[in-house]
Amino acid sequence: MNLNILVLPGDGIGTEVTREAVKVLRRVVRKSDHSLKLTEGLLGGIAIHKTGSPLPDETVRLASEADATLMGAVGLPEFDHAPPEKRPEKGLLGIRKVLGVYANLRPVRAYPALLDSSPLKNDRVAGTDMIIVRELTGGIYYGTPRGIEENGSETRAINTMVYTRAEIERVAQMAFHLARGRRKKVTSVDKSNVLENSQLWRRVVTEIAREFPDVALDHMLVDNCAMQLILTPLRFDVVLTENMFGDILSDEGAVLAGSIGMLPSASIGDRKPSGAWVGLYEPVHGSAPDIAGQNKANPLGAIGSVAALLEYSFGLKQEAAAVNAAVEAVLCSGKVTADLKPPGRPATTEEVGEAVCAAI
Ligand code: IPM
Ligand code: MG
Repeated sequence: MNLNILVLPGDGIGTEVTREAVKVLRRVVRKSDHSLKLTEGLLGGIAIHKTGSPLPDETVRLASEADATLMGAVGLPEFDHAPPEKRPEKGLLGIRKVLGVYANLRPVRAYPALLDSSPLKNDRVAGTDMIIVRELTGGIYYGTPRGIEENGSETRAINTMVYTRAEIERVAQMAFHLARGRRKKVTSVDKSNVLENSQLWRRVVTEIAREFPDVALDHMLVDNCAMQLILTPLRFDVVLTENMFGDILSDEGAVLAGSIGMLPSASIGDRKPSGAWVGLYEPVHGSAPDIAGQNKANPLGAIGSVAALLEYSFGLKQEAAAVNAAVEAVLCSGKVTADLKPPGRPATTEEVGEAVCAAI
């Protein structure tokens, strides 16, 4: 198989963790019969600097030609006060929309070797194994009207949370299919006691559930879910939710996993004519300007995203499992970055990447 992959390192630690992720990808490919074609493109703050746009047309072209896209992270502090339209994040939202990757899969696992890295009590966290399915191309992130309006002495800011039935159906179907391959339980998260949007969400998810009688469905309000994630993480298998709720809850999931640097993600769209899923793969963490350029960011979320890429975009389950096993081996060896609070000297980003390669 020939793997044609676009790499978008982005900003800050995005470039550092992506470098290690690419090393791991090269290593897996070298150990198999596959071949790799890597192309690099611009996204985010670096793209604004070089082209004036956070998502240059050239990047859109490269992404539509590639089999899959591997991304680092975007965001630079110099754009903190820029309007949303002119920020690096606009590039990320743009590429998600252009590729149509509507289902963002964010697995959250408590690795035994990392239990002491979580600030939560070990017995509460041990055994956590869930996947957050976050709707990614709709909701309040994209809804219109939006903007800030000055009207005489009054200023108003508007955002719109909007979902169509079709948008809810397709992401719900993805969640139920995933649950079938797991512990067969979907928890759908909404705010239906307040939002019409969530009432439609709940109604449509309940309808889709009838197509999956072997999967149990329950509904949970998002505020309660924020609490239950920490109190009773073991009760969750597949957590299905809309865009902004999923953004917030997945950072909370990072506390269960030991560090946000651990979390990978896969954003999946429709199947291509070849049968492969359109996919964008990125760690959950951001560009972390405070630690950028210091070779201390945790690359394991980015490396886990490579495993997801192999599995979802190419169906290479064995290769994906080899990457995940190597990550576990490195965690057990204790050669981890400072965010995971190892007892001895923390490893550098590069050392962790090399250790994962060596373990494959
Ligand atoms: C994420 C990030 C992004 C999001 C930001 C950088 C726009 O927080 O992927 O979770 O909100 O989707
Ligand atoms: Mg986020």
